[in-house]
Amino acid sequence: MSASPVASSSAPARLPSFTIGPVTVAPGLALAPMSGVTDSPFRRLVKLASGDAVGLVVSEFISIELLTQRQLRTAIRMSFAEVERPVSVQLYGADVGRMVEAARMVEAAGADLLDINAGCPAPKIVRRGGGAGLLRDLPLLGRILEAVAGAVRIPVTVKIRNGWAEDSLNALESLRIAEESGAQAIAVHGRTRMQLYNGVADWDVVAEMKRHARIPVIGSGDILTAADALDRFGRTGCDGVMIGRGAIINPWIFRQIADEVAGREPFAPTWGDTVAVLRAYHEMLDAQYPPKVAPGRMKMMLSRLLKGFSYDPDLRATCLRMAQPTAMLDHVEATCRALGVLDVRRSVGAAAARDGEAAAA
Ligand SMILES: Cc1cc2nc3c(=O)[nH]c(=O)nc-3n(C[C@H](O)[C@H](O)[C@H](O)COP(=O)(O)O)c2cc1C
Repeated sequence: MSASPVASSSAPARLPSFTIGPVTVAPGLALAPMSGVTDSPFRRLVKLASGDAVGLVVSEFISIELLTQRQLRTAIRMSFAEVERPVSVQLYGADVGRMVEAARMVEAAGADLLDINAGCPAPKIVRRGGGAGLLRDLPLLGRILEAVAGAVRIPVTVKIRNGWAEDSLNALESLRIAEESGAQAIAVHGRTRMQLYNGVADWDVVAEMKRHARIPVIGSGDILTAADALDRFGRTGCDGVMIGRGAIINPWIFRQIADEVAGREPFAPTWGDTVAVLRAYHEMLDAQYPPKVAPGRMKMMLSRLLKGFSYDPDLRATCLRMAQPTAMLDHVEATCRALGVLDVRRSVGAAAARDGEAAAA
């Protein structure tokens, strides 16, 4: 579970930071939006694990249709705790009027930033023109950004892919439209919509956008270690990087990146740290959702975090067969104690992260 050594000689001596209007993102390390994953409990889990090294968190994408219909589950999905700030709420959809109405709701909920999703590849979303569908209609993307930027005071940002398909790459054109339409930062996942999550992310496009951009450019895709992050900063000169799947496997990754840059030994969580973070996550899930939600979410995290548990290769499978999160956690803790590997090497973060008062949605 420890971080890999830093390989790149062009890695920055300090982590970059940047501002989006009045919002400071320091360091320039963001938790990427992930539908079904980056709800408030998960974002606070990452803050518990990585502390101040997380410069920005982004919500999972939120439907403008469901939000403006006042669907309770969607409002809960938009909720966040004070400890998460700065926090960005991401919206998806293709209707300008509804987007404006939803944007006003995001602002009223107190979010620091509003992000427009122009990258989701899901067929049911692109079919209706939303997500990556907007990359096939950049004038519409421009109209959405302009209308929203004119309707709210919080900064508006956009997250794109590098194009719809290999023969229609248009990241620079998207950047130009975004800037002209009032977006104050842009994130890019260097895959096309047609690629989905296959192949590898193209970071040359991030470098190219950075060369042309007047607004901060945040790169996304395939950062799994501190070395990966520092290599991407060095190669592209981007203002920030976003980490998605790498933070599910290793929520300490932001802290490890900051440690590497500061010349400290990268934080290597003990199994005691892992159990502590998982227990806090369970508490946060139970506080936010009906009891039926926690088992599935806990299994998702346990299956990722116990992958490297070489002392007892059956532990993961045994936990995944259990129905109750408390039973899973007690079993992991008892196994670690019996093996003598339960020590908590360092505090896993402020209790405030767990107890943060949820802001109204
Ligand atoms: C499960 C999952 C859900 C995602 N949901 C969203 C989303 O709601 N909004 C968005 O802009 N990107 C979403 N993404 C894309 C990520 O934000 C990110 O750009 C992509 O996964 C590449 O980064 P990574 O390799 O660090 O995961 C999602 C990715 C995954 C794996």
